[in-house]
Amino acid sequence: MLSIGSILLESPLILAPLAGYSDLPFRLLCRQFGAGLCVSEMISSHGLAYGQSKTISMLDSCAEERPVSFQLFGADPDIMAEAAAILSSRCPDVIDINMGCPVKKVTKRGAGAALMTDLPLAEKIVKAVVEKCPCPVTVKIRSGPDSAHICALDFSLMAEDNGAAAVAVHGRTWKQQFSGEADWQIVADVKREVKIPVFGNGDVKNHAEAITRMHQTGCDAVLIGRAAIGNPWVFSEKGRPASLSAVVKVVRAHLELIDSHFDEPNRCLGSIKNHLGKYFKNFPGSAKARKEIYQQADFTALSSYLHRIG
Ligand SMILES: Cc1cc2nc3c(=O)[nH]c(=O)nc-3n(C[C@H](O)[C@H](O)[C@H](O)COP(=O)(O)O)c2cc1C
Repeated sequence: MLSIGSILLESPLILAPLAGYSDLPFRLLCRQFGAGLCVSEMISSHGLAYGQSKTISMLDSCAEERPVSFQLFGADPDIMAEAAAILSSRCPDVIDINMGCPVKKVTKRGAGAALMTDLPLAEKIVKAVVEKCPCPVTVKIRSGPDSAHICALDFSLMAEDNGAAAVAVHGRTWKQQFSGEADWQIVADVKREVKIPVFGNGDVKNHAEAITRMHQTGCDAVLIGRAAIGNPWVFSEKGRPASLSAVVKVVRAHLELIDSHFDEPNRCLGSIKNHLGKYFKNFPGSAKARKEIYQQADFTALSSYLHRIG
């Protein structure tokens, strides 16, 4: 069984951090379908350090989702350390450091994938966070800033030397964003050279492909991102059911988890509709269902609608 530090994972398939998607209800659902670990949406270190209520609400968790990993982003080692200490007071199982996000509002402040241009700063951050955290710390990186500067191995060795418990490698450069195909050779190269567990990431579509990637590269686990959106079955061997009614049943379960864990679901109705709409892909009549989801006036109407069609 795979372990990250002292945390044991029942499955090597992990829900990747997904801003806008990997919130508590979805993490719970993915765990139910077999994910060994789920990573939260990226959480601003500044938001935590300055006590912003919206950021603090992103730390919501519950016993049933454990083990869980919370991801921090930021570029200031002191603020990252402060945020890690605040996060640690909630006893997460794992804390992950984001060094892979290519989104402008993150990289323009030197955080996310921009850290891959500055190994000394990245090292200060890993060191500062590890020092504050009693739990294992993982680092999520890309292959490098661009194809001329592939540095995933240097970053992985740095993470290992500074006490990281595992490294997750997305086989694309910062410049590539999400274009082209992920290069899994870089995952194999990192795995060969480091002693800590290596998680591979990029373009995995289903359970079988994840296992194949592990065999091909020797990596210890696989992070699944986009293929999990609207598809928590991706973590199970059987995969997504063929019938619309079986899908709707799980969408309703997702909605119930939202109802149990969100204080005011109507306040984020747009993102709930967006998330639930993603389940309705590649079914006859799915475009109609998505459209109708968007037409529902509030959370109660959305719930009744899903009961009507399932
Ligand atoms: C909508 C969306 C949100 C994402 N949010 C995060 C994030 O918060 N932190 C992070 O490190 N990566 C984030 N990523 C990147 C994914 O974790 C993952 O590395 C990437 O999508 C490649 O994996 P995939 O091909 O399985 O999707 C995000 C990706 C998408 C599509």
